[in-house]
Amino acid sequence: MTKRWIGASVVALTLLALPAFVQAQDSGAAETITDGEAARVQPIAFPHTIHAGVDQIDCQYCHFSAERSVDAGIPPVGTCFGCHQIIGGTDERQQAEIQKVRDYWANQEPIPWVRIYKVADHVHFPHMRHIAAQIDCATCHGNVEEMTVIEEVNQPLAMGWCVSCHVERGASRDCAVCHY
Ligand code: HEC
Ligand code: HEC
Ligand code: HEC
Ligand code: HEC
Ligand code: HEC
Repeated sequence: MTKRWIGASVVALTLLALPAFVQAQDSGAAETITDGEAARVQPIAFPHTIHAGVDQIDCQYCHFSAERSVDAGIPPVGTCFGCHQIIGGTDERQQAEIQKVRDYWANQEPIPWVRIYKVADHVHFPHMRHIAAQIDCATCHGNVEEMTVIEEVNQPLAMGWCVSCHVERGASRDCAVCHY
């Protein structure tokens, strides 16, 4: 018991002493003011509505590592090209967006997707533990299959949000499980 509390205080002190920690918060605030919406424009207009909605492709077909790793994973171009070497799109706008997929593939370049959900560097979030506990993607990310553009749900990813669910579901509240 005592050891645990000492451990907790050490973690808390380390966090407070870490300059990177303060910077992370500062830059977060600056981003909201300067970049605004423009920062979230994706290189290809990829609609979850068609893929996860109409075509009902399983989330984990693309986010392939969610159940076995810390990161859910973003699919490589090859996963897209597997379908889009055949599926070219119907109207002109669709064809132009899908052509971008083919170009990235032809150039063997990764698609530079803009990251949306991100916890601070001092926080550890393991997807696999949450998937194993049978928590749906939608609990944390909303109904993604109805989103043309990803809308942020439960943002910012604050400590209170994590801890209140941990309390509700009897998961650990130890500082050290979430903080490095
Ligand atoms: C055909 C592949 C594909 C399928 C199926 C798919 N996704 Fe995605 N997902 C992507 C790509 C590509 C991105 C990055 C572009 C974007 O943000 O729209 C992404 C982004 C996301 C993000 C935001 C990631 C970030 O940057 O923080 C979330 C959350 C997400 N998907 C959840 C889901 C869920 C939940 C499902 C199932 C209902 C799903 N996805 C189905 C390909 C897919
Ligand atoms: C399992 C097959 C499959 C995979 C994998 C897949 N797509 Fe698609 N995609 C489709 C189908 C089907 C359509 C609808 C085409 C139509 O209506 O003519 C589509 C449509 C699109 C469109 C046009 C959307 C619009 O706004 O109308 C884009 C852009 C696109 N896909 C990008 C991607 C990207 C990027 C990936 C990889 C992350 C990907 N697709 C993976 C099957 C797939
Ligand atoms: C308990 C809440 C929770 C659940 C359940 C959850 N996520 Fe996440 N997701 C997060 C958080 C928090 C982040 C940011 C993690 C980070 O920055 O390390 C995230 C990040 C992501 C990302 C960004 C890129 C990456 O590789 O991590 C994708 C994609 C994603 N989630 C997809 C999914 C999918 C698909 C599912 C269901 C199979 C899912 N998530 C289930 C909370 C959750
Ligand atoms: C909707 C509920 C929910 C939310 C939100 C949630 N978690 Fe969890 N988390 C759980 C459950 C349930 C477990 C226990 C899984 C198990 O027992 O293996 C867990 C386990 C964990 C673990 C592993 C704990 C251990 O004992 O090793 C970490 C680390 C973690 N969560 C971090 C986070 C962080 C960081 C956030 C917020 C960004 C978060 N979680 C948000 C429900 C949640
Ligand atoms: C379930 C996961 C989880 C647990 C348990 C947890 N934290 Fe956090 N903590 C977070 C997340 C997520 C943030 C928010 C980071 C951000 O703002 O980007 C955070 C932020 C913080 C901050 C920065 C101040 C703030 O509010 O943003 C401190 C200091 C901190 N935690 C200390 C602790 C201490 C001490 C404990 C144990 C008593 C603890 N945390 C337990 C997830 C957790």
